[in-house]
Amino acid sequence: AAYDLAIRNGTVATASDVFKADIGIRDGKIAAIADVISDAAEEIDATGLLVLPGGIDSHVHIAQKQGEGIVMADDFASATASAAAGGNTMVMPFALQERGTSLRACVEEYRKLAEGNCVIDTAFHLIISDPTPEVLGQELPALLKDGYTSFKVFMTYDDLVLNDRQLLDVFDVARREGALVMVHAEGYDAIRYMTEKLERAGDTAPYYHAASRPELVEREAAHRAISHAELVDVPLMIVHVSGREAMEQIRWAQQRGLKVYGETCPQYISLTAEDLQAAQGGDAMSGAKYVCSPPPRDHESWDAIWEGIRTGVFQTFSSDHCPFRYDSTEGKLNPKGRTSFRWVPNGIPGVETRLPILFSEGVSKGRISLQRFVELSATNHARIYGLYPGKGAIAVGFDADIALWDPVRKETIRQEILHHGADYTPWEGFEVTGWPVMTIARGDVVARDGTVTGQPGRGQILERGLSEFARP
Ligand code: URP
Ligand code: ZN
Ligand code: ZN
Ligand code: ZN
Repeated sequence: AAYDLAIRNGTVATASDVFKADIGIRDGKIAAIADVISDAAEEIDATGLLVLPGGIDSHVHIAQKQGEGIVMADDFASATASAAAGGNTMVMPFALQERGTSLRACVEEYRKLAEGNCVIDTAFHLIISDPTPEVLGQELPALLKDGYTSFKVFMTYDDLVLNDRQLLDVFDVARREGALVMVHAEGYDAIRYMTEKLERAGDTAPYYHAASRPELVEREAAHRAISHAELVDVPLMIVHVSGREAMEQIRWAQQRGLKVYGETCPQYISLTAEDLQAAQGGDAMSGAKYVCSPPPRDHESWDAIWEGIRTGVFQTFSSDHCPFRYDSTEGKLNPKGRTSFRWVPNGIPGVETRLPILFSEGVSKGRISLQRFVELSATNHARIYGLYPGKGAIAVGFDADIALWDPVRKETIRQEILHHGADYTPWEGFEVTGWPVMTIARGDVVARDGTVTGQPGRGQILERGLSEFARP
């Protein structure tokens, strides 16, 4: 046969077009797109289904080292299985530098955890928490040459926060080396001030996590990061934007001609700060299930995020998957976490539910086109993070990374149908229209009808190229 596999009779969508076609796959790559492909060893009938580029989730946290006694709920096998079941063919987790340690040594630790365990392809970003002269001068440039071409810096969190001078120094290296910087923009001092004030007043329940970091701390940090990036003349990606204030900072920068990009996440179009409140008469700590940073806001913020999505302020829609078990002393209910929101680990699971939520709230409800969905869920992630061409589109010569979607299937998101390591989903009971029914990664069926069929270890750990989005 001319092809190993043909996907027949489906409706193909790319970031620019929607059309009926068959797809021929050979050696894990898309070898042909044509009206009729009938000479394949195997066929999948996609009648009534959408044939989309597999999702790329460029912001997930997997097996990341936490503070003492806290453990993340996923390893690389479970996180990538969960991702595959949710229509994804690639994830980008972080290799976290701990202060006082070599960045290279940390990268090797994370690679070891990932190797042999990933169901789908994976590529690491770096997190820089300790920008010593050695890290900035030697380690980062060397790691960039090895394909770690993006890194995240934090403007908050005790163990990660960089001061303004450190941010400028990191931006300077990024400019020189052509790396893309991702920024967690929330202001450390303002959050600490609010946290201490709330704690003094006895307001320590998970709900007050949201009050401790209002939108203005995000706006202030976004503005500061943008200003520093302008000073250094380096592009910037502001990740996990939660509402109007930070969105407008990014738009302001873009309108001034700066290369500032924006990412947002499902929690900012579907959860609110009220979710952090304990259910009436229920478990006083249940709000901890929704503790993430920035926190989810309100319905007006959802509208602002949609405005940013529709008008092109945001390029990527990621999960920020960061799973902790709820009912566990190593997770949300750790002993210190029960004493104050300050100690509840930040982050929620979402790698499997990202795409159904965007599809349903976006495409099914008529807010965005299918092409825009493809762009936000796959193509832009590949372009921005140095994987394009090769991934992120349905095109001849690209990896056969494909998700088949049933656009009219109705599902109710429930913990029992998910594959992550967390013991809950923040979207329990959330109804969606549109569901990924099969995921094909480099030509292998890795998930089908809610069952993960791809073996851990089949996914590769990829090096990435420099991104043209990172050019000053
Ligand atoms: O609360 C969150 N988002 N936790 C994950 C780490 C991060 O800042 O992205
Ligand atoms: Zn380490
Ligand atoms: Zn972050
Ligand atoms: Zn994150």
